[in-house]
Amino acid sequence: MLPLPTLKTKNQNIFPSEKILLRKDKEKFLKQKGRVIWFTGLSGSGKTTIAIALEKKLAKQGYLTQILDGDNIRAGINQNLGFSEEDRMENIRRIAEVAKLFLNCGIITICCFVSPTRAIRAMAKKIIGGKDFFEIYVNTPIEICEKRDVKGLYALARSGKIKDFTGIQMPFEPPVKPRIEVKTESNSINNCVEKILKELI
Ligand code: ADX
Repeated sequence: MLPLPTLKTKNQNIFPSEKILLRKDKEKFLKQKGRVIWFTGLSGSGKTTIAIALEKKLAKQGYLTQILDGDNIRAGINQNLGFSEEDRMENIRRIAEVAKLFLNCGIITICCFVSPTRAIRAMAKKIIGGKDFFEIYVNTPIEICEKRDVKGLYALARSGKIKDFTGIQMPFEPPVKPRIEVKTESNSINNCVEKILKELI
């Protein structure tokens, strides 16, 4: 297991500026409380599908949200990162920092990342802050994710064309005490979203 990166900046002459408008002012402006909703689960477990449905419901109720998702972030800000343990750690570190910026703007930030190990999620929680970090485990068994294989990646991983695939060559450690656990094999997306909304609001 890699050690958690230190959270100090390398350049000691950096002075993060004081915010002119505080988070609480922005929350008042938006009439909502900022939160980070962190979905963890295997690739193809349904994290982003649930997040999109959740976002739509929250929008209908007047809440402003932002979804951050593995494929989008890795196509942009994190395009220089792969799937080694070290790169995944850096991937999640940057994402958690970005999520914190949205959080400080009062936005309900919905993160959908495999974030496969307890150490990786512990780092995200530490950066974001425990009381704003709302962990949701999308518990879909690997057999189902593999059967769905929406992106065809499980087939590539099985044939050895992709290495380090979570659940095949790399481990996925389920959260010990997630705030919520949803099971997509036995529940509709709508049921999962309702369960989350009940806990969230
Ligand atoms: S994480 O492990 O670093 O948290 P992240 O959520 O950003 O992963 O990205 C996962 C997405 O990248 C998957 O949904 C899948 O589409 C794609 N992917 C490509 N290669 C891999 C791999 N080796 N392991 C897991 N996901 C992969």
